[in-house]
Amino acid sequence: MKVLSVASECVPFVKTGGLADVVGALPGVMAQAGVEMRVMLPGYPAVMAAIGKGEGVLHDDDLFGGPGRLVSAQAAGIDLLVLDAPHLFDRDGSLYMGPGGQDWPDNPERFAALSWMAARVAAEGVGTWRPDLVHGHDWQAGFAPYYLKKRGADVPTVFTIHNIAFHGTAAADRLGALRLDPADFVQDGGFEFWGQIDALKAGLLWSDRITTVSPSYARELTRPEFGAGLHGVIEARAGDLAGILNGIDTEIWNPATDPHIVARYKSPRGKAKNKKALRQEFALPEAGGPLCVVVSRLTEQKGLDLLIDALPALVDRGGQLVLLGTGEAALEAAFRDAAHHENVAVHIGYDEAMSHRLIAGADAILVPSRFEPCGLTQLYALRYGTIPLVALTGGLADTVIPANPAALSKGVATGIQITPPTAHALALGLIDLCTLYQDKTTWARMQRNAMAQPVGWAASAAAYARLYHEVADPA
Ligand code: ADP
Ligand code: GLC
Repeated sequence: MKVLSVASECVPFVKTGGLADVVGALPGVMAQAGVEMRVMLPGYPAVMAAIGKGEGVLHDDDLFGGPGRLVSAQAAGIDLLVLDAPHLFDRDGSLYMGPGGQDWPDNPERFAALSWMAARVAAEGVGTWRPDLVHGHDWQAGFAPYYLKKRGADVPTVFTIHNIAFHGTAAADRLGALRLDPADFVQDGGFEFWGQIDALKAGLLWSDRITTVSPSYARELTRPEFGAGLHGVIEARAGDLAGILNGIDTEIWNPATDPHIVARYKSPRGKAKNKKALRQEFALPEAGGPLCVVVSRLTEQKGLDLLIDALPALVDRGGQLVLLGTGEAALEAAFRDAAHHENVAVHIGYDEAMSHRLIAGADAILVPSRFEPCGLTQLYALRYGTIPLVALTGGLADTVIPANPAALSKGVATGIQITPPTAHALALGLIDLCTLYQDKTTWARMQRNAMAQPVGWAASAAAYARLYHEVADPA
């Protein structure tokens, strides 16, 4: 089975969030399930630097405003097809925004080009390689199934929603420029969304199957509060939708071998030295309550504004907080301000190594998201014996066993869940956390349970393989 995976981010080359981790992990884990996967990525400067010269395998003189070529290369053990199109991707700034923090005005063309070339690979193949299936991720690959079907290519498609909040919209007057048929745009059944072209909606309408990254998020997506205006479209395709949980890379996130942490460990007791080092790093005093951490983008989705309000419930009980994050200016400022408390420390920025030190050294991690398609940091935390306090939503609901009386009496709890996502519920959750932390026997049991929970890819890789076969070789 040969699969072309199409995405805008991939670890270790380019990352703004968990999408990159998942796209980067899939080729390796799917190889073990008998799937040969190649990843198609935009030729951003960081990607071009990683692949060196490579081999041009497909050329296009008219790629939405300039020439482009698809370069085949292997890097970091991943078989890549990189879209080298300097007029679209060779620029400074972040992947999606210019230096002024505004979306690049030609984002629709940039990712239409990626989708266009994916359709060409499906229709024409590259060399002797032709995919049996195309797997697109999020809006940046939204038009791949459309272009592919429009060319009459007989290759099935799977489309994965990592976050429905991002649609990839464009003004309707760009239909022609984006090579979209106005007849396919029209309301109710077209990829029109409030008068605009919607790449994500196109992916939902034109792919053979849809997946998202947890079973709970798959159900939530059919509800108006979570569907970002597309709940009706999802509902109509409910029979083609599956939720497959993300896994994490259990080699990179392994407390027994992690090169980023002070003391490697196999049992929760081994966390003590890392905790001491973490307190030292952030100049926090000794304290009697749990040391909590956050590693996150600072956005509305993550519910961290609630933590600002709920923080007294933690620090008044001897708890402490270390936050590592970057994002919205108002949240960054609020946390900088909160750090004036002697038991709160904040590092505004993005730092991979530091994230390992936080997760290893902490007693608990806080993830009070308003919605969370899957979430990866609670999975890292489980593996490190760090108790997750999470909101009851999406992948957080699917991966944490809350310390309710039934779970505690069975001895299976791994964390704490709060609902609804409000400052009040979070404060109550933090109080529970502080109480549980003082019950050393129960806490130790939860830590052992957490560390024993499978958080790797085995089950989900098998689920993707089954899905690929169902779609590509129907009986
Ligand atoms: P999302 O993709 O919505 O941001 P996920 O939990 O799926 O949420 O993935 C976030 C990824 O980004 C994780 O690998 C997390 O460790 C990482 N991350 C987020 N913020 C930071 C940061 N400030 N420093 C280091 N890593 C971060
Ligand atoms: C998105 C979601 C996150 C998920 C990640 C990878 O960024 O916000 O919950 O873990 O995609 O699928």
